[in-house]
Amino acid sequence: MFNVNCINKIANVGLDLFTDNYQMVEQFNDADAVLVRSSSLHELELPKTLEAIARAGAGVNNIPLEKCAENGTVVFNTPGANANGVKEIVIASLIIASRDIFGGVNWVNSCKDDPEVAKLVEKNKAKFAGTEIKGKKLGVIGLGAIGILVANALNKLDMEVYGYDPFISVDAAWNLSKYIKQAKSLEEIYRECDFITVHVPLTDSTKGMFNKETFAMMKDGVKLLNFSRDTLVIDDDIVEALESGKVGRYVTDFPNPKVCGVNGVITVPHLGASTSESEDNCAVMAVRQIMDYLENGNIKNS
Ligand code: MLT
Repeated sequence: MFNVNCINKIANVGLDLFTDNYQMVEQFNDADAVLVRSSSLHELELPKTLEAIARAGAGVNNIPLEKCAENGTVVFNTPGANANGVKEIVIASLIIASRDIFGGVNWVNSCKDDPEVAKLVEKNKAKFAGTEIKGKKLGVIGLGAIGILVANALNKLDMEVYGYDPFISVDAAWNLSKYIKQAKSLEEIYRECDFITVHVPLTDSTKGMFNKETFAMMKDGVKLLNFSRDTLVIDDDIVEALESGKVGRYVTDFPNPKVCGVNGVITVPHLGASTSESEDNCAVMAVRQIMDYLENGNIKNS
Protein backbone atom coordinates (compact mmCIF):
# COMPACT_ATOMS: atom_id res chain seq x y z
CA MET A 1 0.00 0.00 0.00
CA PHE A 2 1.40 3.40 -0.99
CA ASN A 3 0.55 6.55 0.92
CA VAL A 4 0.12 9.71 -1.12
CA ASN A 5 -0.40 13.17 0.29
CA CYS A 6 -2.17 15.69 -1.91
CA ILE A 7 -1.24 19.14 -0.65
CA ASN A 8 -3.43 21.17 -2.97
CA LYS A 9 -6.73 20.09 -4.37
CA ILE A 10 -5.68 18.97 -7.81
CA ALA A 11 -8.30 17.75 -10.24
CA ASN A 12 -10.24 14.70 -8.99
CA VAL A 13 -9.99 13.05 -12.36
CA GLY A 14 -6.29 12.55 -11.60
CA LEU A 15 -6.73 11.24 -8.07
CA ASP A 16 -9.35 8.78 -9.31
CA LEU A 17 -6.62 6.96 -11.19
CA PHE A 18 -5.12 5.64 -7.99
CA THR A 19 -5.96 1.98 -7.53
CA ASP A 20 -6.60 -0.03 -4.35
CA ASN A 21 -2.84 -0.04 -3.81
CA TYR A 22 -3.00 3.59 -2.76
CA GLN A 23 -4.45 5.64 0.05
CA MET A 24 -4.58 9.38 0.40
CA VAL A 25 -3.10 10.52 3.71
CA GLU A 26 -3.37 13.82 5.57
CA GLN A 27 0.09 13.62 7.05
CA PHE A 28 3.05 14.63 4.98
CA ASN A 29 5.13 12.41 7.30
CA ASP A 30 3.30 9.24 6.28
CA ALA A 31 3.64 9.87 2.61
CA ASP A 32 5.60 7.84 0.08
CA ALA A 33 4.76 10.53 -2.45
CA VAL A 34 3.36 14.04 -2.48
CA LEU A 35 1.24 15.77 -5.10
CA VAL A 36 1.32 19.54 -5.01
CA ARG A 37 0.11 22.42 -7.11
CA SER A 38 1.33 25.88 -6.07
CA SER A 39 1.93 25.68 -2.29
CA SER A 40 5.52 26.12 -1.26
CA LEU A 41 7.24 23.10 0.26
CA HIS A 42 10.40 25.05 1.11
CA GLU A 43 9.69 25.29 4.85
CA LEU A 44 8.72 21.66 5.27
CA GLU A 45 10.96 18.99 6.73
CA LEU A 46 11.16 16.20 4.15
CA PRO A 47 10.50 12.75 5.65
CA LYS A 48 13.40 10.40 4.92
CA THR A 49 10.93 7.94 3.41
CA LEU A 50 9.53 10.40 0.88
CA GLU A 51 10.22 8.85 -2.51
CA ALA A 52 8.72 11.34 -4.92
CA ILE A 53 7.08 14.74 -5.31
CA ALA A 54 5.00 15.53 -8.37
CA ARG A 55 4.27 19.16 -9.13
CA ALA A 56 1.03 19.52 -11.08
CA GLY A 57 2.35 22.35 -13.23
CA ALA A 58 5.43 23.44 -15.10
CA GLY A 59 7.42 25.53 -12.60
CA VAL A 60 9.25 23.79 -9.74
CA ASN A 61 10.25 26.86 -7.77
CA ASN A 62 7.89 25.84 -4.93
CA ILE A 63 9.89 22.61 -4.45
CA PRO A 64 13.14 22.53 -2.41
CA LEU A 65 15.18 20.83 -5.14
CA GLU A 66 18.45 20.67 -3.19
CA LYS A 67 16.79 19.15 -0.12
CA CYS A 68 15.08 16.62 -2.42
CA ALA A 69 18.39 15.68 -4.03
CA GLU A 70 19.98 15.17 -0.59
CA ASN A 71 16.96 13.15 0.54
CA GLY A 72 16.87 11.00 -2.59
CA THR A 73 13.38 12.27 -3.42
CA VAL A 74 12.60 12.32 -7.14
CA VAL A 75 10.83 15.47 -8.38
CA PHE A 76 8.45 15.45 -11.32
CA ASN A 77 6.70 18.30 -13.05
CA THR A 78 4.10 18.14 -15.84
CA PRO A 79 5.61 19.92 -18.84
CA GLY A 80 3.13 20.80 -21.55
CA ALA A 81 0.08 19.58 -19.62
CA ASN A 82 -1.26 23.08 -19.08
CA ALA A 83 0.36 24.70 -22.12
CA ASN A 84 -2.86 25.20 -24.05
CA GLY A 85 -4.55 26.92 -21.11
CA VAL A 86 -1.63 29.34 -20.80
CA LYS A 87 -1.52 29.89 -24.57
CA GLU A 88 -5.17 30.90 -24.61
CA ILE A 89 -4.85 33.37 -21.73
CA VAL A 90 -1.77 34.90 -23.39
CA ILE A 91 -3.76 35.48 -26.60
CA ALA A 92 -6.58 37.10 -24.60
CA SER A 93 -4.11 39.23 -22.64
CA LEU A 94 -2.33 40.43 -25.73
CA ILE A 95 -5.59 41.72 -27.12
CA ILE A 96 -6.62 43.18 -23.75
CA ALA A 97 -3.24 44.94 -23.63
CA SER A 98 -3.95 46.50 -27.05
CA ARG A 99 -7.56 47.51 -26.56
CA ASP A 100 -8.82 49.35 -23.52
CA ILE A 101 -11.49 46.73 -22.89
CA PHE A 102 -11.35 46.96 -19.09
CA GLY A 103 -11.37 50.77 -19.14
CA GLY A 104 -14.41 50.72 -21.44
CA VAL A 105 -16.27 48.05 -19.46
CA ASN A 106 -15.68 49.79 -16.13
CA TRP A 107 -16.77 53.12 -17.56
CA VAL A 108 -19.98 51.79 -19.15
CA ASN A 109 -20.89 49.98 -15.91
CA SER A 110 -20.49 53.25 -14.04
CA CYS A 111 -23.09 54.94 -16.22
CA LYS A 112 -25.32 51.96 -17.04
CA ASP A 113 -28.33 53.43 -15.18
CA ASP A 114 -28.23 56.67 -17.14
CA PRO A 115 -31.20 56.66 -19.55
CA GLU A 116 -28.92 58.41 -22.05
CA VAL A 117 -26.25 55.70 -21.86
CA ALA A 118 -26.29 55.00 -25.61
CA LYS A 119 -25.69 58.69 -26.36
CA LEU A 120 -22.97 58.86 -23.70
CA VAL A 121 -21.23 55.93 -25.33
CA GLU A 122 -21.13 57.60 -28.71
CA LYS A 123 -19.66 60.75 -27.10
CA ASN A 124 -17.05 58.94 -25.00
CA LYS A 125 -15.95 55.83 -26.82
CA ALA A 126 -13.04 57.50 -28.62
CA LYS A 127 -11.09 57.58 -25.39
CA PHE A 128 -11.12 53.77 -25.25
CA ALA A 129 -9.84 53.23 -28.81
CA GLY A 130 -6.93 50.82 -29.11
CA THR A 131 -4.63 49.27 -31.68
CA GLU A 132 -4.65 45.94 -33.50
CA ILE A 133 -2.13 43.14 -33.04
CA LYS A 134 -2.00 42.29 -36.75
CA GLY A 135 1.41 43.12 -38.21
CA LYS A 136 2.93 43.96 -34.82
CA LYS A 137 6.16 42.35 -33.67
CA LEU A 138 5.90 39.87 -30.83
CA GLY A 139 8.91 38.55 -28.94
CA VAL A 140 8.47 35.14 -27.30
CA ILE A 141 11.20 34.52 -24.74
CA GLY A 142 11.46 30.80 -23.95
CA LEU A 143 10.47 28.27 -26.59
CA GLY A 144 9.37 25.39 -24.37
CA ALA A 145 5.96 23.72 -24.59
CA ILE A 146 4.12 26.98 -23.80
CA GLY A 147 6.31 29.40 -25.75
CA ILE A 148 6.07 27.37 -28.94
CA LEU A 149 2.26 27.16 -28.75
CA VAL A 150 2.04 30.90 -28.09
CA ALA A 151 4.40 31.72 -30.95
CA ASN A 152 2.55 29.57 -33.47
CA ALA A 153 -0.90 30.77 -32.42
CA LEU A 154 0.01 34.44 -32.60
CA ASN A 155 1.72 33.99 -35.92
CA LYS A 156 -1.62 32.66 -37.16
CA LEU A 157 -3.18 35.90 -35.88
CA ASP A 158 -0.85 37.75 -38.28
CA MET A 159 1.77 38.89 -35.79
CA GLU A 160 5.43 38.89 -36.79
CA VAL A 161 6.87 36.52 -34.19
CA TYR A 162 10.46 36.53 -32.94
CA GLY A 163 11.55 33.68 -30.69
CA TYR A 164 14.50 33.43 -28.33
CA ASP A 165 15.67 30.53 -26.22
CA PRO A 166 19.30 29.99 -25.23
CA PHE A 167 18.74 26.27 -24.72
CA ILE A 168 17.34 25.43 -28.10
CA SER A 169 19.47 25.31 -31.21
CA VAL A 170 18.36 27.45 -34.10
CA ASP A 171 17.79 24.34 -36.23
CA ALA A 172 15.66 22.64 -33.59
CA ALA A 173 13.55 25.74 -33.20
CA TRP A 174 13.11 26.09 -36.93
CA ASN A 175 11.84 22.54 -37.05
CA LEU A 176 9.24 23.39 -34.44
CA SER A 177 7.97 26.34 -36.41
CA LYS A 178 9.30 27.71 -39.65
CA TYR A 179 7.32 30.89 -39.10
CA ILE A 180 9.15 32.02 -35.97
CA LYS A 181 12.02 34.40 -36.63
CA GLN A 182 14.96 33.28 -34.57
CA ALA A 183 16.29 36.23 -32.58
CA LYS A 184 20.04 35.88 -32.07
CA SER A 185 19.92 37.52 -28.66
CA LEU A 186 17.55 38.89 -26.05
CA GLU A 187 18.72 42.36 -27.07
CA GLU A 188 17.27 41.77 -30.54
CA ILE A 189 13.88 40.95 -29.00
CA TYR A 190 14.08 44.01 -26.74
CA ARG A 191 15.07 46.29 -29.64
CA GLU A 192 12.58 45.02 -32.22
CA CYS A 193 9.38 43.97 -30.50
CA ASP A 194 6.14 45.83 -29.75
CA PHE A 195 5.00 43.03 -27.42
CA ILE A 196 7.09 40.68 -25.32
CA THR A 197 5.78 37.56 -23.63
CA VAL A 198 8.01 35.53 -21.34
CA HIS A 199 7.83 31.75 -20.86
CA VAL A 200 10.94 30.77 -18.92
CA PRO A 201 11.38 29.05 -15.55
CA LEU A 202 12.50 31.03 -12.53
CA THR A 203 16.22 30.34 -12.06
CA ASP A 204 19.22 32.30 -10.77
CA SER A 205 19.85 33.50 -14.32
CA THR A 206 16.27 34.54 -15.15
CA LYS A 207 15.39 36.16 -11.80
CA GLY A 208 15.20 39.93 -12.32
CA MET A 209 15.85 39.65 -16.07
CA PHE A 210 13.39 42.52 -16.64
CA ASN A 211 15.05 45.49 -14.99
CA LYS A 212 16.13 49.11 -15.58
CA GLU A 213 18.82 48.09 -18.04
CA THR A 214 16.67 45.75 -20.10
CA PHE A 215 13.69 48.14 -20.12
CA ALA A 216 16.02 50.85 -21.47
CA MET A 217 16.76 48.65 -24.53
CA MET A 218 13.05 48.20 -25.35
CA LYS A 219 10.82 50.19 -27.67
CA ASP A 220 8.90 53.02 -26.06
CA GLY A 221 5.43 51.83 -25.07
CA VAL A 222 6.31 48.12 -25.29
CA LYS A 223 3.71 45.78 -23.83
CA LEU A 224 5.05 43.08 -21.53
CA LEU A 225 3.20 39.88 -20.56
CA ASN A 226 4.37 37.77 -17.65
CA PHE A 227 2.66 34.40 -17.20
CA SER A 228 5.88 32.80 -15.90
CA ARG A 229 6.93 34.04 -12.46
CA ASP A 230 6.60 37.34 -10.61
CA THR A 231 10.26 37.79 -9.68
CA LEU A 232 11.48 37.70 -13.27
CA VAL A 233 10.58 41.39 -13.11
CA ILE A 234 12.10 43.91 -10.67
CA ASP A 235 9.14 45.65 -8.99
CA ASP A 236 10.58 49.16 -8.67
CA ASP A 237 11.92 49.09 -12.22
CA ILE A 238 8.65 48.03 -13.86
CA VAL A 239 6.76 50.70 -11.88
CA GLU A 240 9.26 53.35 -13.02
CA ALA A 241 9.09 52.09 -16.63
CA LEU A 242 5.28 52.27 -16.58
CA GLU A 243 5.31 55.75 -15.06
CA SER A 244 7.73 57.05 -17.69
CA GLY A 245 5.75 55.42 -20.54
CA LYS A 246 8.69 53.18 -21.51
CA VAL A 247 6.42 50.22 -20.84
CA GLY A 248 2.88 50.84 -22.11
CA ARG A 249 1.21 47.89 -20.40
CA TYR A 250 2.24 45.14 -18.07
CA VAL A 251 -0.02 42.09 -17.86
CA THR A 252 1.03 39.88 -14.99
CA ASP A 253 -0.42 36.64 -13.62
CA PHE A 254 1.00 37.41 -10.18
CA PRO A 255 -0.73 39.61 -7.63
CA ASN A 256 2.01 41.79 -6.20
CA PRO A 257 1.09 44.71 -3.91
CA LYS A 258 3.95 46.85 -5.25
CA VAL A 259 2.74 46.60 -8.84
CA CYS A 260 -1.01 45.88 -8.65
CA GLY A 261 -3.10 48.99 -9.33
CA VAL A 262 -0.27 50.99 -10.96
CA ASN A 263 -1.48 52.69 -14.13
CA GLY A 264 -0.98 50.37 -17.11
CA VAL A 265 -0.84 47.18 -15.04
CA ILE A 266 -3.36 44.40 -15.55
CA THR A 267 -3.07 41.84 -12.78
CA VAL A 268 -4.57 38.41 -13.25
CA PRO A 269 -4.87 36.26 -10.08
CA HIS A 270 -2.61 33.38 -11.25
CA LEU A 271 -5.20 32.05 -13.69
CA GLY A 272 -2.86 31.06 -16.54
CA ALA A 273 -3.32 27.33 -16.01
CA SER A 274 -6.70 27.52 -14.30
CA THR A 275 -8.90 25.77 -16.82
CA SER A 276 -10.63 22.48 -16.13
CA GLU A 277 -8.76 20.92 -19.06
CA SER A 278 -5.31 22.05 -17.90
CA GLU A 279 -6.01 21.06 -14.31
CA ASP A 280 -7.16 17.60 -15.41
CA ASN A 281 -4.17 17.15 -17.71
CA CYS A 282 -1.68 18.14 -14.99
CA ALA A 283 -3.37 15.95 -12.38
CA VAL A 284 -3.49 12.91 -14.66
CA MET A 285 0.14 13.31 -15.67
CA ALA A 286 1.28 13.81 -12.06
CA VAL A 287 -0.64 10.78 -10.78
CA ARG A 288 0.66 8.57 -13.62
CA GLN A 289 4.24 9.70 -12.93
CA ILE A 290 3.91 8.85 -9.24
CA MET A 291 2.34 5.43 -9.93
CA ASP A 292 4.90 4.53 -12.57
CA TYR A 293 7.73 5.51 -10.25
CA LEU A 294 6.45 3.86 -7.07
CA GLU A 295 5.37 0.66 -8.84
CA ASN A 296 8.01 0.29 -11.55
CA GLY A 297 10.80 2.69 -10.64
CA ASN A 298 10.34 4.57 -13.92
CA ILE A 299 11.24 8.23 -14.08
CA LYS A 300 9.36 9.88 -16.94
CA ASN A 301 8.70 13.58 -17.08
CA SER A 302 5.87 13.27 -19.54
C1 MLT B 1 2.77 26.31 -13.68
O1 MLT B 1 3.90 26.39 -13.19
O2 MLT B 1 2.54 25.56 -14.65
C2 MLT B 1 1.63 27.06 -13.06
O3 MLT B 1 2.06 27.79 -11.96
C3 MLT B 1 0.55 26.09 -12.76
C4 MLT B 1 -0.53 26.51 -11.77
O4 MLT B 1 -1.26 27.48 -11.98
O5 MLT B 1 -0.67 25.84 -10.77
